[in-house]
Amino acid sequence: MKRQPRSSPRSSKKNRSVSIIGTGSYVPEKRLTNEDLSKIVETSDDWITTRTGIKERRIAAKDENTSDMAARAAFKAIEQAKISSEEIELILVATATPDMLFPATACFVQKKIGARNAACVDISAACAGFIFGLEIGQQFITSHTYDTVLVIGAEKLTSITNWTDRNTCVLFGDGAGAAILRHRGSAHGVISTHIGSDGQFSDILFMPGGGSRCPITRDNVDLNLNTIHMIGKEVYKQAVTAMIDASKKALDKAGLSIHDIACVIPHQANLRIIEAIADRLKIPLEKFYVNLDKYGNTSAAAVAIALDEANRSGRIKSGDYILMVVFGGGLTWASTVIEW
Ligand code: ACO
Repeated sequence: MKRQPRSSPRSSKKNRSVSIIGTGSYVPEKRLTNEDLSKIVETSDDWITTRTGIKERRIAAKDENTSDMAARAAFKAIEQAKISSEEIELILVATATPDMLFPATACFVQKKIGARNAACVDISAACAGFIFGLEIGQQFITSHTYDTVLVIGAEKLTSITNWTDRNTCVLFGDGAGAAILRHRGSAHGVISTHIGSDGQFSDILFMPGGGSRCPITRDNVDLNLNTIHMIGKEVYKQAVTAMIDASKKALDKAGLSIHDIACVIPHQANLRIIEAIADRLKIPLEKFYVNLDKYGNTSAAAVAIALDEANRSGRIKSGDYILMVVFGGGLTWASTVIEW
């Protein structure tokens, strides 16, 4: 069906609010506990729990691709939003673990959910990708280009994990989260967003192999260049600073104080990072939604899964102000304040 031109004039652009009208998430069945990991590398439940807060993570099946998890999360968001797949006009998949370098994972998702009227593209912003996606989707809606956008964060990080490196393999897991964005014609919705990057730190969290700079060869695989490389201490430091700064920027833009926020949904990388942010922002840890104990760090999926869980469990309620804040390789960071 041919799209009809919008009747709304550009002058009404500013008044067009954007809401999340449905969320969904999916995690694979298979659990890998800290105890299980201690049989693979020299580590312990005690070390992982005290340094990260992670107790277990989910592992996708061999034939379960990022797009499969993304599609499952999307179906749930579509159902909650009470829309049909054909109403979706744009699919944005934030991922660092696409099914293939091309085509975009969003195209595979389109096929799986039957969203035949959607344009599809992936977002590469590592762990910050889901909120980059919310901001990009929002721009398309406020500009009257589209009415309905599906944003997904989905990862199969265990496919790029070095299972012999205890510094990294204990941290990551698989899963997907999704949100449907639409103009709802009420005050509720995204109030402010802040996104940022610093390419100067591109060498503290990255995967060297698999791109054009270092194509996959037998030698490169032997050197584990097709897996996550990370300087943990540096990432930790940068993450705390960037997430505090991003939180303040989104709150300032929204004209709100941290004390107005009912729930903070942070990137689920490490409980110590979340505790440091709570401490510096002077808010109780109980205000933070935390599920990293169950899933580990699922990169772009993490905050999307947490949002869906907070929504479905009643942890966030209509009218609540929520703050989402993320950080990832790039470096990239992003934050958003939403009136739920
Ligand atoms: N089990 C047991 N010992 C370990 C393990 C492990 N899994 N991993 C490292 N160690 C050892 C180290 O070898 C080191 O031993 P040594 O002193 O004999 O050399 C010791 O523990 C301390 O290592 P550190 O690296 O100093 O440990 P640290 O306290 O910094 O914790 C951690 C490491 C958890 C990775 C921390 O630096 C961190 O959380 N960094 C941020 C990581 C992160 O959040 N990454 C993702 C964010 S962005 C994104 O999501 C993509």
